[in-house]
Amino acid sequence: MANLWGMRVYLIGGVVRDLLLGYPNLDLDLVVEGRAIPLARRLAEGGDWSLRTYPRFGTAKLRHGALSFDLVTARSETYICPGALPIVEPGTIMDDLARRDLSINAMAVHLDQSSFGEVIDPHGGQNDLKEGLVRVLHPKSFVDDPTRLIRAIRYEQRLGFRLEQKTHDLLQRDLAQLNTVTGERLWHELEAILDESCPELALNRADELGILKEIDPALKGDSWLAERFSQARSTPDESLSMRKIYLALMAMRFVEEEAERCITKLKMPGWAARTVWATMRLEQALSALAEPDIRPSDIYHQLERYIPEVVKAAALVVPTTDLQQKLELYAVRLRHIKPTLSGNDLQSMGATPGRGLGRMLRILHDAWLNQEVKTREEEETLARSLLGGGVL
Ligand code: CTP
Repeated sequence: MANLWGMRVYLIGGVVRDLLLGYPNLDLDLVVEGRAIPLARRLAEGGDWSLRTYPRFGTAKLRHGALSFDLVTARSETYICPGALPIVEPGTIMDDLARRDLSINAMAVHLDQSSFGEVIDPHGGQNDLKEGLVRVLHPKSFVDDPTRLIRAIRYEQRLGFRLEQKTHDLLQRDLAQLNTVTGERLWHELEAILDESCPELALNRADELGILKEIDPALKGDSWLAERFSQARSTPDESLSMRKIYLALMAMRFVEEEAERCITKLKMPGWAARTVWATMRLEQALSALAEPDIRPSDIYHQLERYIPEVVKAAALVVPTTDLQQKLELYAVRLRHIKPTLSGNDLQSMGATPGRGLGRMLRILHDAWLNQEVKTREEEETLARSLLGGGVL
């Protein structure tokens, strides 16, 4: 990309950091010294790009196959009071870099033909990458935007870096500023930690530095949690969301009052609140599961109303191998089992619609769960015998 219609365009932020480290990053952020939306429109006209614009923020997203990038107008930010969003004005690339969180995230690369590939690094980011340091740009950084406290330790732990001493001291000084941040923004940062490949590292560090306690005393990042996070990863299951399993594990030691407080305080979105509540309620199912000689179909019906990630998390926590095996059996096998005959199939075999039909479907499902039927033919034989036996 060149100097486009008189506007300079730069690659910026995380992708530059990762390029310099040699890590893959397909999340391409571009900054333009000029108006991003009209530029994105002109770019989209010139090729096979799909375009989405966000006029409220003056930003645009361009997509072409797997490639997508965000185009943003270079801006300056002025912070009026801690925790609140800043006043934003169009600015230069230098303004845009100066408003950023950490030196390693405050670099850009020229995309102009004349200086293509040159790195702009006014805050010593390249040196900090070499030294493995996480450093804020100025002493008021955490006060301006206290979510940076959480971001700083997330990058520190992801990259295996360490907080530069002054940054560490500022972080300790400004811990209480976290109280000025809205629940949504705090949740956004915690969710970003849960999406890391080893979230326990950042949680542990956040605990050690007093960040978690400041957000809510019920949040912990100790070795108990770390062990279970890593166990959860050791039996991967594509059909389960890791962030839900991690959240359930975090909620496992909440008492009801703490669960309610965290959900409200962090303004958790629906999926997260449901995960936390399901974790609190699962305990009720556990006593029924402890029964000896319980059939797989009973295990299924005890657990079917729970989010599977919560069941998986519980399997890592329960005190006995017997309970653990039953929970695993559900999470790994039982929850995927469905009868092959549908209500329509049963009707074409002579069943009439109504409650009896529902009962029959359940009997067939249970037979599959208990391995009393293993093939479609066996299922049909059972269905015929039920029809003949007057189940309906
Ligand atoms: N940024 C910032 N302060 C914030 C959030 C973001 O300065 N509170 C800047 C940083 O320069 C960051 C860029 O915006 O690099 C993009 O933010 P984000 O997408 O959250 O992070 P990435 O660096 O792209 O990192 P990740 O690899 O986690 O996506």
